[in-house]
Amino acid sequence: MYLIFLETSQKKLFFAELGTGSGAISIALALAYPLSYGVATDVDQDALEIATENYISSSKHSNLKFYCGNWWSPLESFKGKLDLAISNPPYIPRNTYEELPKEVKNFEPKVALLGGEDGLKHIREIIQKAPLFLKKEGLANFRESF
Ligand SMILES: C[S@@+](CC[C@H](N)C(=O)[O-])C[C@H]1O[C@@H](n2cnc3c(N)ncnc32)[C@H](O)[C@@H]1O
Repeated sequence: MYLIFLETSQKKLFFAELGTGSGAISIALALAYPLSYGVATDVDQDALEIATENYISSSKHSNLKFYCGNWWSPLESFKGKLDLAISNPPYIPRNTYEELPKEVKNFEPKVALLGGEDGLKHIREIIQKAPLFLKKEGLANFRESF
């Protein structure tokens, strides 16, 4: 997606991913744009350990850093500095979550799936704060356009 949109691998982007999970999206960006620098957050320390392992085993660069904490909170020092923010936050409404098959619930932690009563709780929180962290011409790309 972004690989087409960002034209050239020589771009120097400062990007953030909120809720990186195993790090796949951030790692792909960091590999495709080696001159860029990325920061990725997740509230789940176990997920971040996997993301860190995935990054170390797939890259010889050090242009991506992982932070544990709630959405934007670990990124306070990057306010107004980001070119790009991306996120695929949990989006399943509570009623739908309760009815999910056991295989899904047992496979993914609740924190990776549940998006509050209407599924939009996290997306709202992330979007509300995005302007504080993006540069004036910065871009935000959230779940719907994935
Ligand atoms: C739907 S998964 C997306 C994972 C990955 N970005 C992807 O697209 O495959 C949502 C991720 O958000 C994380 N998450 C949930 N609540 C969070 C919060 N309050 N702050 C940061 N990350 C959170 C979960 O741990 C999970 O890794």
